[in-house]
Amino acid sequence: MRIDILTLFPEMCNTVMSESIIGRARQAGKVEINCIDIRDYTLDKHRRVDDKPYGGGMGMIMAPQPIYDCYLDLCDKIGSKPHLIYLTPQGKTLTQQRVKELARLENIALLCGHYEGIDERVIDALEPEEISIGDYVLTGGELPALIVADAVSRMLPGVLSGDECFEEESHFSSLLEYPQYTHPAEWQGREVPDILLSGHHANVDKWRREQSLKRTLERRPDMLDNAELSKEDKAFLSNLKRD
Ligand code: ADE
Repeated sequence: MRIDILTLFPEMCNTVMSESIIGRARQAGKVEINCIDIRDYTLDKHRRVDDKPYGGGMGMIMAPQPIYDCYLDLCDKIGSKPHLIYLTPQGKTLTQQRVKELARLENIALLCGHYEGIDERVIDALEPEEISIGDYVLTGGELPALIVADAVSRMLPGVLSGDECFEEESHFSSLLEYPQYTHPAEWQGREVPDILLSGHHANVDKWRREQSLKRTLERRPDMLDNAELSKEDKAFLSNLKRD
């Protein structure tokens, strides 16, 4: 898969995407991530990419021309139109389900707004999907774009070490994850649950499932509506609710 990040801060994006799991996946050719500088496309002789809003008001608005030309040049280079996503608090909130769908696409392009926003006409012209990463406002679309790029990349084959890694995780199976422990078995008087030291895999699996159910009921009961629950799961939950 190829991900292009259209931004005024390509170095910031490239730095984040060069570390850890995503950095290694890029080097191994499991995902191609390019950070493109929108400023390289401005026709303004002072290399400006923004201007004051018509009608007055605070802040600066990103002009349509550099963004439009940047996307068109990308389409030319790729030879097709990448699925364009504009990161904005006005968009639809990102979910793991949408992340999974995006990971099936060949090319996505992530457009980062800055300042007070971007000129509406370039949104009308390009009709991007609009995605928010949550109900709070950041200074720009870079961090949200990096979140989308990270969440999508880790779903690609070979990016994580084993397929089971993401299948058990929070949100993937519509349940929150069970608690995890490592050495030492006792730390500051706190002990790892005995069952995890027992070596009895079936009991460990049962305990983990129950912990996931318990956590989800306590912290995100809304998620249980979409979870795939067995008869045993349902019995366990109704016992919990009775207590
Ligand atoms: N840009 C600024 N805040 C944002 C948010 N919450 N989600 C996506 N893009 C943003």
